[in-house]
Amino acid sequence: MNESLTQSVTESFGQCADARTKEIVIALVRHLHAFAREVNLTHDEWRKGIEFLTATGKKCDGIRQEFILLSDTLGLSIVLDDINQHHDDAATESSLLGPFYRDGVKESAFGANIAQSDGEPVFFHGTVRDVEGKPVADALIEVWQTAPNGMYEGQDPDQPEGNLRGRFRTHADGAYAFHSIKPTSYPIPTDGPVGQMLVATGRHPMRPAHIHFRIDAPGYESLTTALYSSDDPSVNSDAVFGVKASLVIEYVAVKEGYDAARDFVLIPRERA
Ligand code: BEZ
Ligand code: FE
Repeated sequence: MNESLTQSVTESFGQCADARTKEIVIALVRHLHAFAREVNLTHDEWRKGIEFLTATGKKCDGIRQEFILLSDTLGLSIVLDDINQHHDDAATESSLLGPFYRDGVKESAFGANIAQSDGEPVFFHGTVRDVEGKPVADALIEVWQTAPNGMYEGQDPDQPEGNLRGRFRTHADGAYAFHSIKPTSYPIPTDGPVGQMLVATGRHPMRPAHIHFRIDAPGYESLTTALYSSDDPSVNSDAVFGVKASLVIEYVAVKEGYDAARDFVLIPRERA
């Protein structure tokens, strides 16, 4: 093994003026070389790798982003979330934003129903507090989820505009509440190279049923997270690794459908 090859390459970036670019590119080279050496990569295998990356690029257009899907399914997206989230044991953990967030949804009244399609009714409610337990008033809560057919509004022309998307404000005591329906699991897109990679490696494409939350309040770190259904068969094998044990909730059967109670805890900016 010739370590000096790696050294020559890393040294070739020695004149890079931007310190951060230099750090990233040198580390990338070191890890790429170590990877090739660890698996004794053959020319044929790397050619197939390049074909795979080329096909991944060709699958991308203005809407479809196959490289993000690759990053998600390799767990890189959630590692980045982990690196860039401020960790505080008392705060709610983050989860992936995903590609289906939409800005500009109109605000609804406390307790409104975001479902314009049939499903099993759920009452979502709880409070938003900070890590000291202080209620966060007037926090903006944005939610979005799939319909029972496993599709988000926007993917599905048969769903009414804005279906299963909501924007709410917390009350003075930090409370939020809205009605919806139980989210449904769905497969990530499998009609591209990432789908082929999942098949070739014996993995399934399912995301366990979840509802996304984005919570913003002045003076607090923004929180992007999701609540995952404990009764979903893929809750322990999410195709994109977004599930964290603390974000798994139980839907409690009640007369009108289900009750889903969940509090969220934000980190004040000055602590982050
Ligand atoms: C989502 O949760 O919406 C999602 C996340 C990553 C890939 C595909 C979908
Ligand atoms: Fe999602």
